[in-house]
Amino acid sequence: MLALSTTAIAWLIAVVVALGWAVYAFLNLRSARSEIGSELELAANRKPYYDDEELEGPRLERMQVLGVLMLAVVVIGLPAYWIYEPSRQAGAEDQQAANFVRWGADLFASTEDGGFNCAGCHGGMSGVGGVAPFNVADPLTGEVTAVDWEAPAVNTIFYKFSEEEVEFILVYGRPFSPMSPWGLDGGGPMNSQQIETLIAYMQSIQIPRENCGPGEDDPRSCPSGNLPADIQGDIDTLARQAVDAGTYDSYGEALFNLDLAGGAYSCARCHTQGWSWGSPGVTGAGGFGPSLIGGAANRQFPDEADMIEFIRNGSQFGQQYGIQGQGSGRMPGFGAMLTDEQLRAVVEYVRSL
Ligand code: HEC
Ligand code: HEC
Repeated sequence: MLALSTTAIAWLIAVVVALGWAVYAFLNLRSARSEIGSELELAANRKPYYDDEELEGPRLERMQVLGVLMLAVVVIGLPAYWIYEPSRQAGAEDQQAANFVRWGADLFASTEDGGFNCAGCHGGMSGVGGVAPFNVADPLTGEVTAVDWEAPAVNTIFYKFSEEEVEFILVYGRPFSPMSPWGLDGGGPMNSQQIETLIAYMQSIQIPRENCGPGEDDPRSCPSGNLPADIQGDIDTLARQAVDAGTYDSYGEALFNLDLAGGAYSCARCHTQGWSWGSPGVTGAGGFGPSLIGGAANRQFPDEADMIEFIRNGSQFGQQYGIQGQGSGRMPGFGAMLTDEQLRAVVEYVRSL
């Protein structure tokens, strides 16, 4: 705001100065014209100048007053500039950040609205999760089936992935799914600034977290915050209902397969092939993520506490996890979304596979 009014004032001054110069040039040109041919009589340096009385009297004083005025301008003007500069810079930064979000929103918009249709698959501009039509081919028979592939909500994407990990997803997509690569490096249409603006937009639509720590002032990213109680309540209710209805045997199994917000809170969409398009294979037998059956996870994490810690934080690119695991950054962290009780339940279920 301040930056804007400063710009307006600067423009006003610039216009006044330009007008002044134009008037001066115009008058000067006119008075110069009459002098043509009479330089000898009228040349300024031939005119008799003021006498000492006049020079050292009021004229000198007038010049001194002018000098003091100029000094005042410097003494007041420079500090004023110095005072306003930081807020001008902050204003410029805020404005740039707002621009990024706006540009990202334009890209995120549906095809009808001139965007790249992230909104069309991911449940509108607020990214609450949706479905995407897709064709899956049987690898043996080549038979093609039209399916609806669940597109997870992206309004919790920074609850579970870091900015670099989200950038990787956007640039390379999930090549086996409707999520195509969007970055140039992955063969998509967007340059790195467009990817950056999409990230800025998705940051702006994150569900505000609860229980942010002191000094963590952005509820959309505060490190110690967690999913709002009402959504955690929805997760809990849905999972318990599925157990009561006999769909699943345990609370942990229900959480593993939780079908909410396009599977954004579940494990099955990555660890069970076919879960995303409604014809799941053997639960936990692996898909995008490795198979968790037959003690694979137990081999990696003989100690249950270590496994809970891994599910809480997810994997980090290049970092070791468990006994012989090396993370790719593609396994999300669930610590900000699931409660400690839910993490334990889901881990106990995985260990039973
Ligand atoms: C044709 C539908 C479609 C379009 C268009 C699309 N996506 Fe996706 N996206 C999906 C699907 C389906 C998945 C889940 C893939 C899977 O099963 O792993 C996904 C996954 C993602 C994920 C990872 C989510 C997670 O929790 O694992 C992000 C982030 C994402 N998309 C963002 C975007 C953005 C940003 C755009 C626009 C540039 C976009 N998507 C366009 C269908 C789409
Ligand atoms: C977005 C996809 C995705 C989701 C969702 C996901 N995982 Fe994973 N998971 C992976 C990938 C990929 C790996 C392999 C490690 C890596 O690449 O960093 C992995 C690794 C693991 C491992 C280690 C397996 C081993 O033997 O190395 C366990 C255990 C695991 N996931 C459990 C879970 C649980 C429990 C959930 C749900 C709370 C879950 N995952 C949700 C993708 C996912």
